[in-house]
Amino acid sequence: MTIKPLIILPDPVLRQVSTPIETIDDDVRRLADDMLETMYDAPGIGLAAIQIGVPRRLLVLDVTKEGEEKKPLVFINPKIVRSSDDRSVYEEGCLSIPDYYAEVQRPAGITVEYLDRDGKEQSIEADGLLATCLQHEIDHLNGVLFIDHISKLKRDMVIRKFTKAAKVRGAKAI
Ligand code: NI
Repeated sequence: MTIKPLIILPDPVLRQVSTPIETIDDDVRRLADDMLETMYDAPGIGLAAIQIGVPRRLLVLDVTKEGEEKKPLVFINPKIVRSSDDRSVYEEGCLSIPDYYAEVQRPAGITVEYLDRDGKEQSIEADGLLATCLQHEIDHLNGVLFIDHISKLKRDMVIRKFTKAAKVRGAKAI
C-alpha cells in the first residue's frame, strides 16, 4: 500500500466528473487500499479517488471514532437512490481543503447502492455522520466540493485564500 499525494484546492482536477468503474480487478482493489492508507495517514474519515488524481467512481470511508476498531468501507460506483426530507447539519472539512471547516446542511438519511471490493451489489441505509460523509464523497465524484454548499461570499473567500497559497507553493492555479 502506498500513501499518495493529495490534490488541493484550487486544482481544477477536483472539478472533474469521475467515470464509472467497469471491471473490479486487483488494480481497483490496490487503488482502494492506497486510498485507505492515504486517508488514515492524513488523517481523514473519507476520500474519493479524484482527490489523489484518479477520476474513477471509487471512495473509501471510516467513520469510527478514535480508539475504536477500524472499519474501512469501500464504495464503487455509489448511487444515492433515496434522500430523506429531514435535514441535518454537520461541520464539514475536506482533505483537499485543509484546515477549513464550515457547517453544511444535507438530507439526514440516504440509501446508497454500490458495488463492494468483490464486485458484489450492495445497498446501505445511512444516517448521521455516515450519511453526511457519503454525500460529501459522492459529491467529489461529480466534481462538487462542500464549499459549493456554503454562501458564495464564504466560498469566494476560501478559494481566494487557497489560490494565494497555491501560488506561494508554485502550484498551478485556476
Ligand atoms: Ni472532501
